[in-house]
Amino acid sequence: MPSPPVVFHWLPFVGSAIEYGNDSMKFFVACQAKVTFCLGPKGNNFVLVGKSTVFNAEDAYTHLTTPVFCKDVVYDVPNEILTVVKVGLSTDNFRAYVGMIEDEVEEFISSDVSFSAYQSNDITARGSFESVKALSEITILTASRTLQGSEVINKSFAQIYTDLDERQGTDNERLLCRVIQKRRVGGSAQHDHDMIAALLDQKYRSTDREDVVEALYQEQVKHFGVNGEPGKFRPLAYEDLRDLPVLDFVIRETLRVHPPIHSIMRAVCDDVPIPSTLAAPNSKSEGTYIVPKGHVVLASPLFAQMDPAIWRNANKWEPSRWNDPEGVAMMALKERLTFGFGAVSKGMDSPYQPFGAGRHRCIGEQFAYLQLGTILFTLIRKMEFKLPTGVPEHNYHTMITMPKTPRDVHYRRRQFD
Ligand code: HEM
Repeated sequence: MPSPPVVFHWLPFVGSAIEYGNDSMKFFVACQAKVTFCLGPKGNNFVLVGKSTVFNAEDAYTHLTTPVFCKDVVYDVPNEILTVVKVGLSTDNFRAYVGMIEDEVEEFISSDVSFSAYQSNDITARGSFESVKALSEITILTASRTLQGSEVINKSFAQIYTDLDERQGTDNERLLCRVIQKRRVGGSAQHDHDMIAALLDQKYRSTDREDVVEALYQEQVKHFGVNGEPGKFRPLAYEDLRDLPVLDFVIRETLRVHPPIHSIMRAVCDDVPIPSTLAAPNSKSEGTYIVPKGHVVLASPLFAQMDPAIWRNANKWEPSRWNDPEGVAMMALKERLTFGFGAVSKGMDSPYQPFGAGRHRCIGEQFAYLQLGTILFTLIRKMEFKLPTGVPEHNYHTMITMPKTPRDVHYRRRQFD
């Protein structure tokens, strides 16, 4: 049996994995593991739903996650233990979490210095905030309040988490930067089919979508307005989140175009054949590849979610695609176990898998929707937003995909108190 073709081979000695450029690659460099990219929905399905005795997540990740999150946390514990966390993710808890998240967001914008224009209670005053700094703090503060209790909340705690992610960029990041810069200058024709080429090709810049911001606000006016009085709204309840399609589509589409986890890896524990339907779907030959034990396989939610062969205008951020009865997005939605906001996706052969699939699929999907929805809901209710420099490009050098600078957001308060 032939070995699978090498997708990308930048440095002959260390193999192709190093180009990933995160600290995680220390692992690949150390063992000179080879990575087989299994792209598209079929590739994702092959890697993510494959047998756990053959594909192992802990072995692929622990070299990255354990130094960051410490021993006995995340991939340094047996997978079964993670199910304990699900106890905090019940519907009853979610009902309570909505109010807590709203409170935290309000507290933040009422006290953080970047929202001083909001605090001035003057609707003609404009301010701006650094999106990653402010939204990371809001995310950590709201997650800590709901999942870890009010005792752990303070701003330095939020900063520690931001630093954890930023700290990922070290020597390997510099190497990745050099690879990317070299390709940008010299062109990347010979690498057309590798992952870095795919990532470099993505064009995410788009213009402001004030129409969507307005639609989000009008959705609130319609469902939560009190006697038609401007700026008067009733509070949000967990059940309301199921009936806010614009908010739902905005989050869904954002996770399609900007999935925080663009690639998912598994260490291969036993020689594994790649079915010809995946390795060579258009070939008449019967041959199949074997990925040898010790290699790594990689699936990519980003690749499937941005594939122009699957999605119409794949590069365009267009929330309304989730409302198109003929569209791929609607089909991905119909595959969900239960319909509605926060429902869990089956995500086996789906082209939309921001939360992964199979045994290691995210246990926090519903919480993430709840948290993102409530934060966005609370901010939109209080302020208008503009992106003065457009949607930032992606920075793939951090553990979780982040927006590059400039990434300031301009705001204006909607109503006087
Ligand atoms: C937008 C937010 C989120 C995204 C896009 C996301 C994405 C993902 C993805 C793609 C995986 C699969 C990794 C793999 O297969 O190797 C995953 C796993 C996981 N996620 Fe999330 N996640 C999010 C939020 C959360 C939250 C809020 C929690 C906790 C409350 C959480 C807890 C976990 C855990 C514990 C796993 C590991 C599951 C396992 O290995 O069995 N995630 N997440």
